[in-house]
Amino acid sequence: MAGHDRITGETRVSNNNRKLRSQQWYGKHDRDGFIHRSWMKSQGLPDHAFDGRPIIGICNTWSEITPCNAHLRDIAEHVKKGVWEAGGVPLEFPAMSLGETQMRPTAMLFRNLLSMDVEESIRANPLDGVVLLGGCDKTTPGQVMGAASVDLPTTVISSGPMLSGKYRGQDIGSGTDVWKFSEQVRAGTMSLPEFLNAEGCMSRSPGTCMTMGTASTMASLMEAMGMALPLNASIPAVDARRKVLAHLTGMRMVEMVHEDLTISKVLTRKAFENAIKVNAAIGGSTNAVVHLLAIAGRLGVELDLEDFDRLGREVPLLVNLMPSGQYLMEDFHYNGGLPVVLQRLQDQLHLDAPSITGKHIGEALDQVECFNDDVIRPMDNPVRPAAGIAVLKGNLCPKGAIIKPSAASEGLLKHRGQAVVFETIEDFKARIDDPNLEVDENSILVLKGCGPKGYPGMPEVGNMPLPPKVLEKGVTDMVRLSDARMSGTAFGTVVLHISPEANEGGPLALVENGDWIEMDVEARRLHLDISDEELARRQQAWEAPESPHKRGYYRLYIDHVMQADEGADLDFLKGSSGHVVTRESH
Ligand code: FES
Ligand code: MG
Repeated sequence: MAGHDRITGETRVSNNNRKLRSQQWYGKHDRDGFIHRSWMKSQGLPDHAFDGRPIIGICNTWSEITPCNAHLRDIAEHVKKGVWEAGGVPLEFPAMSLGETQMRPTAMLFRNLLSMDVEESIRANPLDGVVLLGGCDKTTPGQVMGAASVDLPTTVISSGPMLSGKYRGQDIGSGTDVWKFSEQVRAGTMSLPEFLNAEGCMSRSPGTCMTMGTASTMASLMEAMGMALPLNASIPAVDARRKVLAHLTGMRMVEMVHEDLTISKVLTRKAFENAIKVNAAIGGSTNAVVHLLAIAGRLGVELDLEDFDRLGREVPLLVNLMPSGQYLMEDFHYNGGLPVVLQRLQDQLHLDAPSITGKHIGEALDQVECFNDDVIRPMDNPVRPAAGIAVLKGNLCPKGAIIKPSAASEGLLKHRGQAVVFETIEDFKARIDDPNLEVDENSILVLKGCGPKGYPGMPEVGNMPLPPKVLEKGVTDMVRLSDARMSGTAFGTVVLHISPEANEGGPLALVENGDWIEMDVEARRLHLDISDEELARRQQAWEAPESPHKRGYYRLYIDHVMQADEGADLDFLKGSSGHVVTRESH
């Protein structure tokens, strides 16, 4: 493209003679061009910033109330150095930030809202490519969903994991040990002062949860899908090498614009198939299911719940990290990180899937080394032989439900028990500690009203705390069913994402106290043991609960959210609108 430098009088031409998108704004010598450039010059940008070189957006979910992303302004500065070095112009802009541990009723309610913010911010502005800075659970998928619906060259830089938790000489893991400690307090084996002391010992630096929770899972999947440079998932948030990764990503982003390597060229069906297998091998979060389905929906890539079961079924658990194993993200990184997983899994992956590097994800895997085979296991000595997420079907979940067998108790994967039903989360909280609650370790806890529409937002409450009278016997796991999600850091024999949800009139809504339920994970079956006639009678009598949410985003969300088996995106956000905007601003 031709850009005229009014100081030197030179006419500059970008590498491949292709006029970049930003020149629709900055390449005009009329009133509109004046307006677009003049106001930007108020920040000290020289004339040559507008001469046709790539304008790289840095979409930052930095926020002090998203502690996992609190260091991302610093990381952004290193992206900028790389962009300038490679001949581009970096422009950082904010996007709604979603702090998993702070937002009520659940950050998941706002994942789709973030995606709309990101999509419209990218499209409306004079950008040629975009670097997404995020890490806390919902920020990564929200940003990628939004960017996918615009389809410019796009890369991800994750927050990186926080340092390992240290408590009384032991490693403790984000989330995973919160669930353990709080059950110990409920069982009377940990004191309250000990519990409160652990808070400061668990979260010692910026960065995301350092277990293989949803943040580390999504960062790993972004790396596996070729959306980020190698080691993006595991370099600790505060390690200088993350700044180097940011710098190099900034440089690479400029080249990607010249190559027109758009996000839809990277996130192909092959990338999703690889992600599903890698998710099994890393013991990744159940939340990856809804996020990958939603991202695929934006790109028009065919993906369904069955793909997760079918593709992940035979994949062994190689990464020995909490919650499915014993180590933490620092250990994962220092011993080789995700490239080792890709290398060991290579016979099962599409090695020719594209990467933002411009090469393929299989490139250079032969040079990868592992420094500890207990942290990242070889194929012939896995933590578990088959680790994929199982998709259950049956009259209780006609559109499916999921369970993560690697985080469950072996002995409960086939179980028949009587339902103890909680109609809402408030009902659960009011009665679970009641000594008169009729429940024992063979019961199945059933929670309703926690799906996308019901809560609203499909919160992470599916790993319900156990009743004290069961805990006191030393029992630490029970079968639990709901339309909720659970934290990627959590564990237990927990069936999640039951679809359709109770508030949508799914059969889950019809379960009554004392009903027998059969679960057989091997057979992929979840069955409510009542007759079809009785089920039909209950369905007839069921009335949809009225939502108290009448206005604003909640209303929009409840009216349009799809069920978990479709990724819980809003129905009108599926697909892409591209990056063309023809009308001027003035
Ligand atoms: Fe932000 Fe876990 S709470 S990554
Ligand atoms: Mg979470």
